[in-house]
Amino acid sequence: MDIAVIGTGYVGLVTGACLAELGHRVVCMDRDKEKISLLNNGVIPIYEKGLDELVARNVAAGRLRFTDRMIEAIRGAEAVFLAVGTPTAADGGAELSMIFEAAEQIAMVMESPLILIQKSTCPVGTSVEIERRVAAVLAKRGVQIPFHVVVNPEFLREGTAVTDFMQPDRVVIGADTAEVGERVAMLYEKIVPKERILLMDRASAEMTKYAANAFLATKISFINEIANLCELVGADIESVRRGIGTDTRIGPAFLAAGIGYGGSCFPKDVKALIKTGKDAGYQLRILESVDEVNRQQRIRQVEKVIQHFGGSLEGKRIAVWGLAFKPGTDDMREAPAIDVIHCLLREGAEVVAYDPIAMPQAQRVLDQRVRYASDALSCVDGADAVLLLTEWPEFLGLDLHLVAQKMATPVLFDFRNGFSPNRAYEAGLTYIGVGRKTKV
Ligand code: UGA
Repeated sequence: MDIAVIGTGYVGLVTGACLAELGHRVVCMDRDKEKISLLNNGVIPIYEKGLDELVARNVAAGRLRFTDRMIEAIRGAEAVFLAVGTPTAADGGAELSMIFEAAEQIAMVMESPLILIQKSTCPVGTSVEIERRVAAVLAKRGVQIPFHVVVNPEFLREGTAVTDFMQPDRVVIGADTAEVGERVAMLYEKIVPKERILLMDRASAEMTKYAANAFLATKISFINEIANLCELVGADIESVRRGIGTDTRIGPAFLAAGIGYGGSCFPKDVKALIKTGKDAGYQLRILESVDEVNRQQRIRQVEKVIQHFGGSLEGKRIAVWGLAFKPGTDDMREAPAIDVIHCLLREGAEVVAYDPIAMPQAQRVLDQRVRYASDALSCVDGADAVLLLTEWPEFLGLDLHLVAQKMATPVLFDFRNGFSPNRAYEAGLTYIGVGRKTKV
């Protein structure tokens, strides 16, 4: 199939490259000329494992191209994926101007029948509004070109985006007719068995995406609350996690307690779903709490550090391991490290940070007073405490004896529960995790 993908962020770029890998002819379009020029020069603007080789291979094979011109992108295309950003608007809802703009631009230049596929995360009703806007532009042009709007949300995670796309648990397709749904389903036939391609109506497909992210965020806030309670009553969250995660009805995934969720999706999508509820006259009480617990979780961890040092961090040197919102990415959007470092500086601490990949991105968003180390060990040199904020394997594999030796006072705040407390203790470190006993 000839396919266009509008938007070359995480979702758009991965979708485009993976569809090309499956044998389709793909043109990726972005209005950001700089991004397109980077891509045309073989530079991938984001850090994502495996994506650079995938893009290079498909460009070389002539199946993948990049352009900043809409007309060029959709010329001859049968399907167009809309994969532009839908960030949080001032009222907490999703900001949809970019997706509407892209759809209208398509309508202005399309010459032949098209399937518009809504890949971006958009509230229920967006596909119908896109349909209305495209029809209005076509009417204004005085042309009659058949088109459909299909909802096909993406469930890939940053850091494992390519494998998530190529080996999905399921594919959700929302269409107004079975025929057009089946047509889009064909795109995925090579990678997923037919029974795991779920055809449904468009509103349900839009809702599925939000419900999935909101449910995963709920699991995280839930386990964080239980972890906070474990701290107060002397239980260990890692034992409790095993204890409940082995129940197949609960499952082990997304039950890692820590500093809370960040990233470009969970915070935004939980807020947007709360807003959808409000607009529909329904208060989503669970999700309001999920959001609030997540906000508090960061603050609670900094309070532990302040408390440990007797109420003040004045003159303390704090080392920070990890800045990205999770390992495997350089994405700093809504990263817990931003709030944590802000609080540490406010309390008078001196902050030295290290992240294997995200430091260039971090420098753009963090306070200028933050110093950056060249590696994980030099980061803790002379430090009064080290905080693990992103569980990169590079940190978890460190020789903790060496770490303890380098520090002024050997204290490890393990805010991702990445280390074994006993291992830290044996290395001579004071260990403070999330919901864990210091010595198990
Ligand atoms: C999330 C979803 O997992 C994807 O399915 C979805 O497609 C994507 O959002 C999206 O909507 O685009 P992502 O934000 O890349 O993917 O990252 P996750 O791996 O889900 O992690 C989100 C946050 O939760 C991270 O800050 C992570 O550290 C935190 N987390 C995750 C926990 O605190 N505990 C856990 O057990 C799991």
